[in-house]
Amino acid sequence: MSVVFIRGQEQWDTGISMQGLNLLAHAQMIELPIGSTCGGHGKCGKDRIRISLEDQHKVSPITAIEKAHLKPDELAVGVRLGCQCFPDSDGISLQVFLQG
Ligand code: FES
Repeated sequence: MSVVFIRGQEQWDTGISMQGLNLLAHAQMIELPIGSTCGGHGKCGKDRIRISLEDQHKVSPITAIEKAHLKPDELAVGVRLGCQCFPDSDGISLQVFLQG
């Protein structure tokens, strides 16, 4: 059970998923850059990821910070900010698509 980051044909598997770690931190754990320039403080809006439709119920609710950075049509298709999005429990499997 782990977080798998996907870009095109490439995949990176964290080997673990933890409720207390946001998805930016999961990517950092395996040294995978996902665009953060603010260090995970919800300021830059550059750590965009997309959660697969079938996995959207496995992550934390959309935050006010995400609503400020992302358009409603982006939120509707599962685009999130990695620093604002957490697995909803330990040990789940999650597919996360890298944007850009
Ligand atoms: S890392 Fe900057 S908004 Fe998430």
